[in-house]
Amino acid sequence: MSRFREQVVIVTGAGSGIGQATATAFAAEGGAVIIADIDAARANAVAGDIRADGGRAEAVHVDVANSDSVTAMTERAVATFGPVDVLVNNAATADGNDILHVDEQQWDRNQQIVLKSVYLCCRQVLPSMLERGRGAIVNVASVNALGAYSVMPYSAAKAGVVNLTQNMAARYSRHGVRINAVCPGTVRTPIFDPLLERDPKLFENVAQLYPAGRIGEPADIAGPILFLASADAAWITGHALVVDGGLSCGNLPFIEAASAAMD
Ligand SMILES: NC(=O)c1ccc[n+]([C@@H]2O[C@H](COP(=O)([O-])OP(=O)(O)OC[C@H]3O[C@@H](n4cnc5c(N)ncnc54)[C@H](O)[C@@H]3O)[C@@H](O)[C@H]2O)c1
Repeated sequence: MSRFREQVVIVTGAGSGIGQATATAFAAEGGAVIIADIDAARANAVAGDIRADGGRAEAVHVDVANSDSVTAMTERAVATFGPVDVLVNNAATADGNDILHVDEQQWDRNQQIVLKSVYLCCRQVLPSMLERGRGAIVNVASVNALGAYSVMPYSAAKAGVVNLTQNMAARYSRHGVRINAVCPGTVRTPIFDPLLERDPKLFENVAQLYPAGRIGEPADIAGPILFLASADAAWITGHALVVDGGLSCGNLPFIEAASAAMD
């Protein structure tokens, strides 16, 4: 498939995990991809791998929480490949859990990197998309946006991402720009490295709560992101697509407890 031939794609946080898999998949389908990340070395490595495979990619250093940096990223994308057709707001960190143990800096950092970043990046690319009457934005939210799954400051910010997605879609879709989100469950990426150091069995333990019987891999999320960005999703906008191996479709411990009394 080459659904993104001649299209310019920015993927933030593309130096690692879901962003890396997504950027690589866009390039494999003909997209010219900006590998935007705060980790310049990782961004360079991913862009180098894509080019080595015959794809088009340019590494750009960005801090998505910083307005000037986001402006510079967008200008560089346009100067390198042309006007942006697809923006994937994927970069994020997750830190802090229970609000009684989260300090104000942690709270603010989560809101800036997870939520403010989406505002900053969208306001940079939207004017040109609206002028050209075409474009797609996919925001990487989380199942954490939809209910209680711990990491409170991050989850609250992700809920904001879903709402911003809906509001932007309602406002701009009639002008040819579709805006959607994906809500992944647990995906095996380096974002969990600090937690795995403390609990090496984390993935194994949470996998048992997934109806699909496993946690996700980055490619499980890249596919749905490409779908939402593609013409295959031409009549889908303002949607938050849950991609979570069934985690949020029911409460497995509840079902088991209730079933024990019935069976
Ligand atoms: N892994 C999961 O289980 C999971 C679940 C739901 C949602 N998500 C979301 O998926 C997205 C990707 O996460 P991942 O799991 O691939 O994590 P990851 O840590 O592997 O990748 C995140 C990337 O974002 C970059 N980044 C961090 N802060 C940045 C900043 N200020 N500016 C630019 N780049 C920055 C990092 O350098 C890194 O390369 C995030 O939005 C995350 O919240 C992940």
